[in-house]
Amino acid sequence: MNYSVNQRRLRASAHIRDLAATVSVSHKEMIQPLFVDQALKEAVPIPNMSGVCTDSPESVLRQIEKDVRNGATKFLLFPVPASKYETDFNFDFAADLVASIKRNFGDQVWLASDVCLCSYTAHGHCGVLNEEKSQLLNDETVQIIARYALQLAQAGADCVAPSDMTDGRIGAIRSALSEKQEATAIMSYSSKFSSSFYGPFRDVCKSAPDKSLRLKDRSSYQLDFRNPGDAVASSLRDLAEGADLIMVKPCLPYLDIVVRLRENTLAPIAVYHVSGEYASIDLMHEKGLINRDDALFEIWTAAKRAGATMIITYAARSAKKILEDR
Ligand code: PBG
Repeated sequence: MNYSVNQRRLRASAHIRDLAATVSVSHKEMIQPLFVDQALKEAVPIPNMSGVCTDSPESVLRQIEKDVRNGATKFLLFPVPASKYETDFNFDFAADLVASIKRNFGDQVWLASDVCLCSYTAHGHCGVLNEEKSQLLNDETVQIIARYALQLAQAGADCVAPSDMTDGRIGAIRSALSEKQEATAIMSYSSKFSSSFYGPFRDVCKSAPDKSLRLKDRSSYQLDFRNPGDAVASSLRDLAEGADLIMVKPCLPYLDIVVRLRENTLAPIAVYHVSGEYASIDLMHEKGLINRDDALFEIWTAAKRAGATMIITYAARSAKKILEDR
């Protein structure tokens, strides 16, 4: 039997290609990130990320209304506070924002809120540093992160998503939530790598680490991309500590991690197609090198094929339209 000739019959028409396909993608599996800057009065478009803005606390409500109409109902919120802190972090802006979104949209939307300190600290690191500014203080940061998560949950977040990458944060959050906020889900950025692909995000969230400090980057707390075993171990640890959802981030260079996790757990796995990945597609589209929607469909399908359950993507709000005719 000639294998290649035989297979070709399964690609002969759109009908049989549809019938033979074993992987599918739906807009219902997508999560749309939202950036809200306390200092803004109106929405500002993000360069090289078409369809994405930094919102003001008011404009985000109009954005969500539009998104819901277009079939996007799940969101991941990144609050950007107007003030920076060393200690005594104040999370009221973020909590008020969550409350305002849930007051306006209730169960029409599923709202996850990111939990991290990088847009709160003047130095841009994801937690509290020691005096020499050479190390992130794990346990001190965990306490603050757990307090932040509890406040967001009490404000009405359906899910809290810690992205700081300290050790033990999931256990601390789960126990902080245990009494009154038992129903709040935890999505752990469990396999979040120290990556070059977060650049556009850090511009928006004003969270790039200060290069003049002894601690120059996030490589001592985010995962090393040469160590896939650590990603699997960290994700399984976070599930054991009480995470409901785990995550692989970035997406395309890390789909092997999704495959490995899929072999090791039945838990839902999110992949995060991050800002730098999205911007690269957008820039190639602008230059006429590729078609943006075709490329996104291909990437989303690859994520599902690897074993992802859901996709965090900057184009979630266009996904229904993009996928309509495929
Ligand atoms: C905060 C955080 C980052 C992203 C999500 N949460 C940036 C970072 O770790 O520096 C990146 C998301 C993106 O690039 O789209 N810790």
